[in-house]
Amino acid sequence: MNVLEAIEKRRSYRGIYESTPVQREDLMKIVKAGVAAPSGCNMQTPSFIIVDDAEILRKLHELMPPHVGDTAPAAICVLSQRVSAKGQRCFATQDYSAAIENMLLAIVELGYQSCWLEGQVTDSEEINKAMARTLNVPDDYELVCLLPIGYGEGMPPVLRKKAFTDRVWVNTYGNSVGRASDR
Ligand SMILES: Cc1cc2nc3c(=O)[nH]c(=O)nc-3n(C[C@H](O)[C@H](O)[C@H](O)COP(=O)(O)O)c2cc1C
Repeated sequence: MNVLEAIEKRRSYRGIYESTPVQREDLMKIVKAGVAAPSGCNMQTPSFIIVDDAEILRKLHELMPPHVGDTAPAAICVLSQRVSAKGQRCFATQDYSAAIENMLLAIVELGYQSCWLEGQVTDSEEINKAMARTLNVPDDYELVCLLPIGYGEGMPPVLRKKAFTDRVWVNTYGNSVGRASDR
């Protein structure tokens, strides 16, 4: 599968996962994709915890709002360090977003399913702190996302996206792709 095919194929999966374990080797390939992501001023602010211990997974999902990804046999938790890059600007959010997307594409390439769970991990400070404690996350790191990983029993739904021509312009805003290609 090439990168463009993986981008096309990626969808958020919220169904049941098979119990088949995810090989450590595959989890390593996925985090390597995260580590390889670009970061503002190369500050490399995200870090990652591979979780394939059933007891730790159970504890995390017990804390989180129910059901999404709770049957997945593995997960990658994403930590972010809000440190400033050049000129006191902090690119931590962009950094971890790039890392997560890289990992989601690697997950597709390896045949697994996942879903970017950030709202469920960060909406409640209390839940977020309890999850971080379960993972021994140091105080200067923020737990920002959990990616469940495993083989899906089903397939993710294909969501309707807004029309391409409502979101993409050529050269100047409002110059539609259709009109531009007519010229
Ligand atoms: C920043 C961010 C936070 C997200 N948080 C959650 C979440 O907490 N729970 C969830 O089920 N999906 C979450 N998602 C997944 C989105 O709902 C999903 O990407 C969107 O509905 C589009 O569907 P698709 O991924 O299948 O294209 C999140 C996605 C992003 C980018």
